[in-house]
Amino acid sequence: MTRPIELILDDARWAPSGDNTQPWRLRIVSDSEVDILGHDTRADCVYDLDGDASRIAHGCLLETLRIAASAHGFGIEWSCLPEGDSPTPVYSVRLTPQPDMVTDPRQPFIRTRAVQRRPMRTQALTTEHITALTAAASPYRVVWMSGFSQRLSIARLNYRSARIRLTIPEAFEVHRRVIEWGARFSEDRIPEEAVGVDALTGRLMGWLMQKWSRVEFFNTYLAGTVAPRLQLDLLPGVACGAHALLVAPAQPESPLDFVDAGMAVQRFWLEAERCGLRLQPELTPLIFSRYARKGRSFTRMAEPTAWAHRVSDDLDTLFGSTDARSAVFMCRLGYGPTARARSLRLPLDKLLAR
Ligand SMILES: Cc1cc2nc3c(=O)[nH]c(=O)nc-3n(C[C@H](O)[C@H](O)[C@H](O)COP(=O)(O)O)c2cc1C
Repeated sequence: MTRPIELILDDARWAPSGDNTQPWRLRIVSDSEVDILGHDTRADCVYDLDGDASRIAHGCLLETLRIAASAHGFGIEWSCLPEGDSPTPVYSVRLTPQPDMVTDPRQPFIRTRAVQRRPMRTQALTTEHITALTAAASPYRVVWMSGFSQRLSIARLNYRSARIRLTIPEAFEVHRRVIEWGARFSEDRIPEEAVGVDALTGRLMGWLMQKWSRVEFFNTYLAGTVAPRLQLDLLPGVACGAHALLVAPAQPESPLDFVDAGMAVQRFWLEAERCGLRLQPELTPLIFSRYARKGRSFTRMAEPTAWAHRVSDDLDTLFGSTDARSAVFMCRLGYGPTARARSLRLPLDKLLAR
């Protein structure tokens, strides 16, 4: 692999995507043109309402491609067809030589950036890092929640939202599919060790996840969602330096609004990595509240629908309803070690469409 376009794509494929689904294939058209054959997972993933989460991932990929291209003296221009809603959008990307191009300072962090789902240090973020992150997200606004009581309020929001995630059969199917049990690394899923539970809980979850009836029994009679929610949501929600909400300049509506949001997300995340900060996205409260706000059904169970309305109300109370409606991304950040288990990526030759 020596052609610049291949080297650039080999870097770009490290862009993050929900559950590491990598909802794209790549078709090299010429030495300066590539088509990104995107798809979304709305048909079988409850977290991908209208394909919005996949569109954010497409934006992350385009931004990573742009940053990777800068290291080879190229800018990029891209267009998307169709522009409106489609589960299979195609992004045509053209590399444009720019003799004066300076390598983007976030380029060295493309491959090391990874989710940290385990507790982080509670040390506050430095003013310098907050300034750098705020600039990276622009024109998206960052609402920071730091200090113990603010972190606790977000931890409680996540705890409440996680009850939905761990109770509905629609999410059970997704979790079963996207976790690679017993693994520390995974090319096309999330390895169990990166999920963030201790070994014993991990083994129990692996056993439960083999059958929905086991999960249902455990949840109904043994308060089965409590232990994972404490480990995955409440404790990490407090054990961090801050939570951040990225708010769009205007309420996102079209698919391309979410692509644009994904570009800001990836700038923000790479900047965090550059600052030595670890990050974990916290998208499910935003997703369930969007279902509630739009009056869209996401489960055949009655109670979790009511819980989603409560999550939406909590978001409004915490951030105000205007920011809650324009929020595109929420995450926690903190100093601490990088994750020892992580998702890898499909090799480039498997991503290339023939
Ligand atoms: C749009 C989007 C939503 C995500 N939502 C979550 C989330 O709610 N919780 C979480 O732990 N990780 C979330 N992730 C992180 C992905 O699971 C992660 O990026 C992917 O598995 C690849 O792993 P890596 O980022 O460590 O390389 C999200 C990522 C994206 C791009």
